[in-house]
Amino acid sequence: MAKVNITETVLRDANQSLIATRMPFSEFEPILKTLDKAGYYSLECWGGATFDSCLRYLDEDPWERLRKIKAACPNTKLQMLLRGQNLLGYKHYPDDVVRMFVKKSIENGIDIIRIFDALNDVRNIEVAVDETLKNGAHASGTICYTLSPIHNLENYVKLAKEIEALGVQSICIKDMAGIMSPKEGYDLVKALKENVKVPIVVHTHSTTGLGFMTLLKCVEAGADVIDTAISCFSGGTSQPATETMLYTLKQYGYDVPVDAAVCKEINDFFKPYRNEALKNGMLNPVVMGTQTDALVYQIPGGMLSNLVAQLTAQNKLDKLDEVLLETPRVREDMGYPPLVTPLSQMVGVQATANVLAGERYKNVTKEIKNYLKGEYGRAPGEVNKELQAKVLEGGQPYEGRFADTLEPGIPEAKAYLGDRATCDEDVLSYIAFPTQAEAFFEKREQRKKNTFTYSIKKVEG
Ligand code: CO
Repeated sequence: MAKVNITETVLRDANQSLIATRMPFSEFEPILKTLDKAGYYSLECWGGATFDSCLRYLDEDPWERLRKIKAACPNTKLQMLLRGQNLLGYKHYPDDVVRMFVKKSIENGIDIIRIFDALNDVRNIEVAVDETLKNGAHASGTICYTLSPIHNLENYVKLAKEIEALGVQSICIKDMAGIMSPKEGYDLVKALKENVKVPIVVHTHSTTGLGFMTLLKCVEAGADVIDTAISCFSGGTSQPATETMLYTLKQYGYDVPVDAAVCKEINDFFKPYRNEALKNGMLNPVVMGTQTDALVYQIPGGMLSNLVAQLTAQNKLDKLDEVLLETPRVREDMGYPPLVTPLSQMVGVQATANVLAGERYKNVTKEIKNYLKGEYGRAPGEVNKELQAKVLEGGQPYEGRFADTLEPGIPEAKAYLGDRATCDEDVLSYIAFPTQAEAFFEKREQRKKNTFTYSIKKVEG
């Protein structure tokens, strides 16, 4: 029977989706050696929001976290999520920064980099893929999954072929909103298996309740790797549960090299922390449940709650139905971008503005203007030409790769930081999250001084 591999997401996506990436290293350190024994294909543990959260909330050096995980898990591949030319954020970085970030991630312990672009513009992932390959690591090219009249099997296959041509070792279908149904997943994986040679990875979320069924059907269609989360950190906005998928797939006779007894140990370890998070409010039980609104409105759950929050803040919640009708129209005008951050916010804010002004595009947000100018990359479909012409005021949209317009970023950051940066990793932390990194360096310096004074006192005493 076919082999199915499992990527465990408890340290990254499950942590991010359920408790806003607030689990400190010290909390999961004792279980790392056990995670390393489970037989996972990989351990997703870095990138995404982990980097920001380490610097901003946890007073941890994200690079040091990675090195420590690597030291404790020498037998399992470590995986990270990277937003192509945007690295871990939303703006475009120059190529020298992207290359150094990728190189240093691999040097510090990453084996597999899942590289995506919010618009599925392949030009925005090619430099990160190239650098990953140059450094001997595994580049997993990614398709952001979304629904629209132009996102059909034919276009997904075309995209997958373009990604495969970059030399990636696998292709991941990334369904960030959990809206890919079992049927859609089956058809898509089948089409990809027939048209590309590299292994297919499926990533979804349990948000709408489709997750388990979708993963099973994707495996039936030939998916090689699926992403799951250990059960007490699974479900809802997180991934489907590892143990449940393992149980089901083994019963069907699939060869899944994950040890159920070790999974139990891992789950037993995380359970008290999950219970504590529920008690202190860090984990909201609502996000663990099933929310089918995304299927009704065809917009991700997170985006829906943002719209509600926006309207509530302006005391205009009675306009919600109108905004929900306007949102897909704005998305159509933008050429059907996948509704993932930051596009989901951009489209939502513009739709709200259109409704509240009582006139479409009376006020166009700066972000939407930049989008129409081509600064985010190529729109998946045709944008509204009339609107684009209005925004450009006679100018031409930028057709090239936006990063080509940027000056190198490393020399300037190095010069600015001086000896506050102790290594290249510090420079990259600063470029990715300037304010948070500077505050972190300051605290680190203070700690060093304190320790130094303490040791002198000890010697004197
Ligand atoms: Co995800």
